[in-house]
Amino acid sequence: TPSPTKSKLIPGNDPRSVAAYMKSERCRNVFLMLGAGVSTAAGIPDFRSPDTGLYANLARLNLPYPEAVFQIDFFRANPVPFYTLAKELYPGRFAPTLTHTFISLLNTHSLLHTCFTQNIDTLERLAGVPKDKIIEAHGSFASQRCIECKMPFDDERMKRAVEGGEIPKCERRKCGGVVKPDIVFFGESLPKEFYSSIHSLRKADLLIIIGTSLTVHPFASLVHFVPQKCPRVLINLVKVGEFDRRDDVVLLGKCDDIVRELCRELEWEEELESMWRGV
Ligand code: APR
Repeated sequence: TPSPTKSKLIPGNDPRSVAAYMKSERCRNVFLMLGAGVSTAAGIPDFRSPDTGLYANLARLNLPYPEAVFQIDFFRANPVPFYTLAKELYPGRFAPTLTHTFISLLNTHSLLHTCFTQNIDTLERLAGVPKDKIIEAHGSFASQRCIECKMPFDDERMKRAVEGGEIPKCERRKCGGVVKPDIVFFGESLPKEFYSSIHSLRKADLLIIIGTSLTVHPFASLVHFVPQKCPRVLINLVKVGEFDRRDDVVLLGKCDDIVRELCRELEWEEELESMWRGV
């Protein structure tokens, strides 16, 4: 347990104190953990917010339970609900938010080590975050393959099928299996780069967790892999998880508002605005 006498690395529970730490020599490797709350301002609903969350608005799909839409066995038996939803969520119509742009700015300022995201919307890439610094722990819509023979399926044909409301089928002879985007469904394992990147968290000087309920594992358990001396900053509409270490900070509110305040304290606000407008 930390010695009570040692001063806190981030004394205040506010963006100004976080910014002061980020400007210090000590803060070199910043890690991010993102959830659907980061993309709500882009027009993509999150999953569990009451009333507005996706899982509260799937009655039209007649599912046995909301998460079934992302459950692999349910999908194999009936891919229609997923593809109904995919048409509404498919990348191409959404732009990165201020928060996505902030992550790209962290990279511009050589502070970004790794951005772990649960989101499948590829908005981190679109915001200019280098692909080799993003771990899409739950996969994404960026590619797709047959769920039976695993043969990759053509991107353009996938886009046309989703927009046309068709169920894409494998074109390999004698297969004909259903094609699924490379999104990690419940019942599937996470990509190997998720597990091979966890050890890098021991290099973290700062972990920022944004817009997630921290309810889905193993992603949520990443918070435990940073050193005790690494401050963990939660930016979320509501309090989630357990942030009871001496150097934890909890900033409650809309992530774009908090990010804007943080960038003001970092003197990055103009850069943020012009980068965001330019994306
Ligand atoms: N600013 C800050 N926080 C927000 C905002 C916002 N603008 N909008 C929503 N939030 C918060 C919500 O209050 C909630 O705590 O973001 C969190 C989103 O939680 P979830 O909807 O559970 O989304 P997420 O944590 O990403 O879900 C994890 O569940 O269904 C699976 O695979 C799916 O990756 C997803 C996983």
